[in-house]
Amino acid sequence: MRRLLTATALLALAACGQQPSAPAPTTEAPTPAPATTAAATTEQRSAEDIAEALASLPAPYNAADYEAGRRVFAQCRSCHTIEAGGPNRVGPNLHGLFGRDIGSVAGFNYSQAVQDANFTWDASHLNDWLSNPQTFLPGNRMAFAGVRDETQRRDLIAYLKVETSADE
Ligand code: HEC
Repeated sequence: MRRLLTATALLALAACGQQPSAPAPTTEAPTPAPATTAAATTEQRSAEDIAEALASLPAPYNAADYEAGRRVFAQCRSCHTIEAGGPNRVGPNLHGLFGRDIGSVAGFNYSQAVQDANFTWDASHLNDWLSNPQTFLPGNRMAFAGVRDETQRRDLIAYLKVETSADE
């Protein structure tokens, strides 16, 4: 009972913070909640920060859909962390990816193919790698078929660009 009360109080507080005059939502009402997506995003960074970061990217990435990119990244999450200081998993941590030499995350055991490759990650290399990792760099160990859809790759690369260069 005490728990319930606390939860209700917190909900009320949260609701107050957002819309002081909004009536309490009823469970029956099938009203859509447009605030949900915004709230989920602001947990990490504000919508303005994201819009600003996207706008500063070169075309076509400045026209990318960040949320769509985040959804595509769900395919990578089982193997890669993206935040600063995140651990290596099956694949290396991706923070600071842009401008970094391929195969240079300390403590990650790369394949010989990656160790022998010699380039710096940028949008164009990523686009090739993500289209089809195996044809781009035969012998690498990333067991991933690739993102075949051009728009999905654009959105994913823009998302990576924003997230891998964020401070937190
Ligand atoms: C099944 C696990 C797996 C999945 C899924 C996966 N990766 Fe990887 N990734 C790896 C492994 C393993 C490597 C290292 C490859 C090697 O050493 O040959 C790697 C390497 C990379 C590299 C090179 C990193 C460096 O330090 O040079 C990038 C960039 C990358 N992955 C991005 C992605 C993205 C973006 C996705 C999602 C679209 C993804 N990966 C999905 C396992 C995965």
